Amino acid sequence: MSKICFPADFLWGTATSAYQVEGAASEDGRGESIWDRFSHTPGKTFNGDTGDIACDHYHRYKRDVGIMNDLGLKAYRFSISWPRIFPNGKGAVNQKGVDFYNRLVDELLSKGIEPMVTLYHWDLPQALQDGGGWDNRDTIGCFADYGYRMFNILGDRVKLWTTHNEILSSAFLGNATGEYAPGFADIALAVRVSHHMLVSHATTVNAFRQSDCRKGKIGIVQYSSDIYPATSSPEDAETARLVDGICNRWFWDPVMKGSYPQDILDFFERNYRLRAIRPGDETLFKENPVDFLGVNYYTRFIVKKSSDPHKMGYDTVVPEGSDVTDIGWEIYPRGLYNVLMRIHKDYKSPLVYVTENGAAYDDPPASGKIIRDGKRIDYLKRHLAEIRKAMDGGANVKGYFLWSLMDNFEWSHGFSQRFGIVHVDFKTLARSFRQSSLWYRDIIAENGFNI
Ligand code: FCB
Repeated sequence: MSKICFPADFLWGTATSAYQVEGAASEDGRGESIWDRFSHTPGKTFNGDTGDIACDHYHRYKRDVGIMNDLGLKAYRFSISWPRIFPNGKGAVNQKGVDFYNRLVDELLSKGIEPMVTLYHWDLPQALQDGGGWDNRDTIGCFADYGYRMFNILGDRVKLWTTHNEILSSAFLGNATGEYAPGFADIALAVRVSHHMLVSHATTVNAFRQSDCRKGKIGIVQYSSDIYPATSSPEDAETARLVDGICNRWFWDPVMKGSYPQDILDFFERNYRLRAIRPGDETLFKENPVDFLGVNYYTRFIVKKSSDPHKMGYDTVVPEGSDVTDIGWEIYPRGLYNVLMRIHKDYKSPLVYVTENGAAYDDPPASGKIIRDGKRIDYLKRHLAEIRKAMDGGANVKGYFLWSLMDNFEWSHGFSQRFGIVHVDFKTLARSFRQSSLWYRDIIAENGFNI
C-alpha cells in the first residue's frame, strides 16, 4: 500500500449548479429560465421531472453548508441563477435574488469554505431566449452586464469566478441534438451559439477586470475529453482528430491562445456556413486571458465516422464489456491524466482546477445507517490518483471539485441519476451521508489517501 499526498494548499471542494439544486423556481421574483420551460415541456426529461423543487437548497442552504462543514470542505463551487438576479435577463436587479447569494456566500465564509462562483450553468432567462437567446449578439452584452453586477456585489468576498460551465454542452446539446434546453436540432445554430458564448466569456472577463473585484481570479469551465478512434482505419483516425477539435480545441484555443483552430474553423465554415465571427472577436479573446482553466472530466470518447446528416460526422461508441457508471459513461481515469498533461503541454501550464468529476450510481439495498457506495469511492480514488500523477508530471492543478455534493436534478435524466456523495430523498428532501462523503472527509483531513 502506498500513500498519495496532495499539497497543503490543495483546494478540496464539491460542485453543484443553481437549477440542479435550488428549487424555489418561482419564489422571490425569480424569472423563468430555459430549463424551466424545457423541463415543463412534455417528453423532454425523464419522468417529466423538473427543477421546481430539486433539493430545495434555496431554503435549506444553511443546513447544506453545515454538511459541507461536517465534511471539512475547503471550497464549494455553485452557480448563480441569472433569472433570479435579472428575471428578464436585463433591466432592474431583483434584490431578493441578490440577498440569497449574499446569505449563501456569508454562510460559506463563516465556516471557512471558499466560494467558487459560476455565472452561467445553462439557465438562460427565457425572456432572452424569446429574443433569440445566444444566437442574438445582444445576449453577449446582457451577460457581461449581469457578470459585472455580480462581480461588484460579491467581489468583496468571492475570489474565484468562472464565466461559463461547459459551453460545448449548452451550445451543442441544447441546439444541435436537442437533448438540453432550449431543445433545438440545428447544428449551424449550435456552432453560432458556441461562438457567441465564447465571445461573451471574453467580454465578461473584460468586465471583471473593470469591476471592483480586481483581486479575484477568473476562469472558464470546459468539458474536457480524451478522444480515441474506434478502429485503426485512417478514416477513424481523421474522425478522432476532428472530434478532438470540436470538443476540446474549439473551446480551449480561443481562451488559451486567443484564436480558433484553423482546421475546425474550416470545417464549420465548409459544413455549416459559419458567418458569426466578426472582426474584433478574436482580438477580444487575445486581450482577455483567463487566470485559470476549469476542467470537467467524466469519461473518454471513442469515435467512428458517421454519414448521418443529423450528426457532425461522427458517432461515439462504448466498447462492449467496458466498465460504465449508471449513466452509461465509460470509466477511464487515465483520460483525466491525459487531458491535464495535454493542457499543461499545449497551453503553457496554466493554473487548473478540476471543476467537476464524479460518478452516477444508484444505491445498493440499505445495510445499516451509512449508505455504502464503494463503486463511487473506487471511481473517485482512481481519478484522484491520475490527478496526482499529472501534478508529478508538471500539471499546475490547484484543486478538485467533486460532482456532486448531493444528488440533484440531472438535466434530461431528471432525478434518475445520482451523483451525490450525500444522498437526497426526493420525497422528503432528507439528506443522508453516503460512505463516499466520509471517505472524502478523511482525504481532506489527511490531504491524501492510501492506494
Ligand atoms: C456536467 C454538468 C453538470 C452535471 C454533470 C454530471 O456535464 O456540468 O451540471 O450534470 O455533468
